[in-house]
Amino acid sequence: MEIDHDATLKVLNEIVELELAGVVRYTQYSLMIFGHARIPIMNWMREQALESLGHATQAGEEVTTLGGDVSLGIGELVSTRPASVAPGGRCVPQAPGADRGAQCVAGGVRTPDDPH
Ligand SMILES: [Fe+2]
Repeated sequence: MEIDHDATLKVLNEIVELELAGVVRYTQYSLMIFGHARIPIMNWMREQALESLGHATQAGEEVTTLGGDVSLGIGELVSTRPASVAPGGRCVPQAPGADRGAQCVAGGVRTPDDPH
């Protein structure tokens, strides 16, 4: 079976970039969780980050196997604006310029007066 070499490398490099963006985003999100119930959520996000790193590595290996150069780029990193987890577990953005950055609580929205 014949493959379109350039198109294949392009797709594989897109996968590398997207998976690396996943590593950054899951890691960052894991650091945004506060509260007593944060540990399982934080751990799950960090597991996802490691899984994404594994996928990026696998796709990168395929690129080098085909003789290509692995992209040094990274997929789009969406807004780093602060966000919080609403009581229902839904993520909602906070107003830009919130003074304490990302303040999320598993099961509730953290307020500035609420210490860890
Ligand atoms: Fe993946």
